[in-house]
Amino acid sequence: MTGWPALGTAKGCGYRLALMNEAIRPGPDTPRQAAGLLQLSVVVPTFNERDNVGALFRKLEATLRGIAWEVIFVDDNSPDGTWQALRELARQDDRVRCIRRIGRRGLSGACIEGILASSAPYAAVMDADLQHDETQLPKMLSLLQSGEAELVVGSRYIEGGSAASFDRQRAGASAFATEIARRVLRVSIADPMSGFFMIRRDRFEALAPQLSTQGFKILLDVVASADGELKAVEIPYSFGSRLHGESKLDSMVALDFLGLVLAKLTNDTVSLRFLLFAMVGSIGLGVHLATLFLMHSLIKAPFAEAQAAGALVAMTSNFILNNFLTYRDQRLKGFAILRGLLLFYLVCSVGLFANVGVAFSVYDQEPVWWLAGTAGALMGVVWNYAMSGLFVWRKR
Ligand code: GDD
Ligand code: MN
Repeated sequence: MTGWPALGTAKGCGYRLALMNEAIRPGPDTPRQAAGLLQLSVVVPTFNERDNVGALFRKLEATLRGIAWEVIFVDDNSPDGTWQALRELARQDDRVRCIRRIGRRGLSGACIEGILASSAPYAAVMDADLQHDETQLPKMLSLLQSGEAELVVGSRYIEGGSAASFDRQRAGASAFATEIARRVLRVSIADPMSGFFMIRRDRFEALAPQLSTQGFKILLDVVASADGELKAVEIPYSFGSRLHGESKLDSMVALDFLGLVLAKLTNDTVSLRFLLFAMVGSIGLGVHLATLFLMHSLIKAPFAEAQAAGALVAMTSNFILNNFLTYRDQRLKGFAILRGLLLFYLVCSVGLFANVGVAFSVYDQEPVWWLAGTAGALMGVVWNYAMSGLFVWRKR
């Protein structure tokens, strides 16, 4: 403290205070401070988009002139080092931030985390690959600011919009999914599959606990969860071509989509992951019976051995399928596969005891074979699911 003039001493006090204020005053205005209070947070999920992020940032900068904005990139530890390019961008401009997530994958989850990490009253979500038309952002923002909308969707399927860059297969799949979403979930917007939208953050924060972090249909999830309570406006845009790199959406997203529809239909009582896990379990039953048949009836192995082999084969195939589908965002790789498989055997063996135990006690009360059997099987799948999540595919 010795270097500082004492405060409160009578003479020259005002001058000293002014000196101090000078010392704590921030340096020259950054572009964000110059534009006033933060209005818009743009959230951009990235996976292997190293060559696109710089161009996107420059386009945002050009189109959002005069608006106080920030951009939050959420990168799932891209192998191409996207996050390093983003750190460099962020060092040069404090409107840029990058969240680097390790051990997690998923477009929806990334968007949710990005919005929750932002602080503007309005949040936009858009792709990093320049397929979304950033010049629509100011219009979207003013629709929210004026109160005309609480959600603005960039839509390919209304007059003036297009998805011309889609090949026939992708166009067909997109149209089919849109139709299902509209009919089954009674979503009324034309393009609920869009990955380009802007929303009031207070509305989003209220819905966030209901949203699924798995999958990629965040907008559909938002609209379905809001259950008609969100004032939505669609504006047309043309879905462009990807600048660099390739799409991450593979044929597996169809499964994610189905899961999301089912989860929303059951009012979120059943999670997407649990549905997939249970589905894999039923496939496992088929695998078990097929192995049993093969060993017992064809190879004439004793029943006990054939049954044990059936269980082993079914557990192994369940593990592989779960690693491939149910937990594809947390897929075990390399040596971790072996460790996971052994743990999975252990979990399922205990699950079998739980299954038989429950079945016996139900049968004891009510000797109805199918009721007791179903209760046991349910117990088994719930146990296996809970324990697998805890020990085999641990969330980081
Ligand atoms: N953090 C993170 N994690 N980002 C991801 C992941 C992931 O697992 N998967 C994809 N992304 C990022 C990409 O880097 C890109 O910026 C954006 O999410 C969209 O992914 P693309 O791989 O470019 O998807 P697309 O162009 O095939 O699909 C687009 O069109 C769909 C409509 O048909 C996206 O906009 C979808 O959101 C949209 O639903
Ligand atoms: Mn894309």
